[in-house]
Amino acid sequence: MLEYIIKGSKKIQGEVNISGSKNSALPIIAATILNAGKTTLYNVPNIHDTKMMFEILNKLGGKVNKKANKIIIDTSNIDKYEIPEELMRQMRSSVIFAGSLIGKYKKAIFSYPGGCDIGTRPIDLHLKSFEKLGINITKNYGNITCNCDKIIGEKINLDFPSVGATENIILAAILAEGTTKIENAAREPEIVDLQNFLNKMGANVKGAGTSQIIIEGVKKLKDVSYNIMPDRIETGTFLCVAAMSGGEIIVKNTNSNHIIPVIDKLEEAGCKIDIQNSKIELKAPKKLKAINIKTMPYPGFPTDMQQIFASMLTLAKGTSIVVENIFENRYKYTQELIRMGAKISIEGKTAIIKGTRRLYGANVKATDLRGGVAIVIAAICAKGTTRIENIEYILRGYEKFEQKLQNIGVDIELVNSKLEK
Ligand code: UD1
Repeated sequence: MLEYIIKGSKKIQGEVNISGSKNSALPIIAATILNAGKTTLYNVPNIHDTKMMFEILNKLGGKVNKKANKIIIDTSNIDKYEIPEELMRQMRSSVIFAGSLIGKYKKAIFSYPGGCDIGTRPIDLHLKSFEKLGINITKNYGNITCNCDKIIGEKINLDFPSVGATENIILAAILAEGTTKIENAAREPEIVDLQNFLNKMGANVKGAGTSQIIIEGVKKLKDVSYNIMPDRIETGTFLCVAAMSGGEIIVKNTNSNHIIPVIDKLEEAGCKIDIQNSKIELKAPKKLKAINIKTMPYPGFPTDMQQIFASMLTLAKGTSIVVENIFENRYKYTQELIRMGAKISIEGKTAIIKGTRRLYGANVKATDLRGGVAIVIAAICAKGTTRIENIEYILRGYEKFEQKLQNIGVDIELVNSKLEK
């Protein structure tokens, strides 16, 4: 069991380099299957979730070779089409392998991902879209088997712009016969990155970043190398920790165009922000102002920043209202913040946050990836020492998190509580 011990009341000062995007790397790693060849990836974040993707690739017959910042993936000998249940359970987003396996081999077997810590997270939109593409789906004791003789392009209208479903349809349609058109597609930058990667490989995808994506099936793809885009949620996280602490930060190697609503809200809260090329500089005010936030599909305010903003707003002047519209159960972490002195009440999708003068160190638990980070940033700004359990959640998505925080002035230590006892 990994824990963070954080000594609080620290003002952030310094620079941080942003890693490659987790949510971009995951579908791109899955997409390498389509090529049945060699792909070289740069800027893949070294985090638990990408390691799990590589483990699944290995189990399917792929080979992954790491050389510093370069990862070479060889998918020429894939000979299994089943995502192991135990790995599927550990990482829900491994369902993204389904699109590539069915797209390339017309066969994929995986288990139902089930619920997780932020809600039920169904995959009905993925499966309905597969069926539209002529893929047969059989469900048996929690196992889902997809197979077909061929995939023929179709028009698919998504009920909701699901990121994962949009990506799975694209992957299934790359080598299909004819044209696939997705209406009400998710517009996230990670989908644009996936399109760029696939087109470099020789695919024909247009429209990512808009709500209509058109995929013309192609017969063959080629070996490529590709650089994963920077992580917009990591960028937002470091801006928020500096803002909450009343400090200053320069965030480097990022893309400010991907987090416009986050920057707007930080400015509304009183931060001064200066953007130059791939660099964002933030200077926090003495005291943040309360603001209101509603999470929405991109280009709206990202649900993955909701917990981190809510944590930041516990120290703002006035009352902030946060509305979570994407996930049904994304407020678990607020119980932990309340233990630290935050004044938060939840009514359905809404969190009402009354700004307080001070938070206090306590023994708390990370409840999920972003909720865990929300607690870390609160601990950095709290009076006294905080001990946070279940840090494994955070390591799923943030590369060198404690080292990056130490470099900007945070007193944070990662301990293994089992070894300590
Ligand atoms: C992705 C991101 C995650 C982010 C989320 C929303 C990755 C690996 N993860 O998750 O960090 O928080 O987008 O921006 O990229 N839904 C259904 N049926 C489906 C699919 C989704 O009802 O078949 C619902 C979900 O339960 C959720 C909402 O749609 O309430 C959004 O989910 P979706 O956009 O699919 O998120 P993910 O792709 O899982």
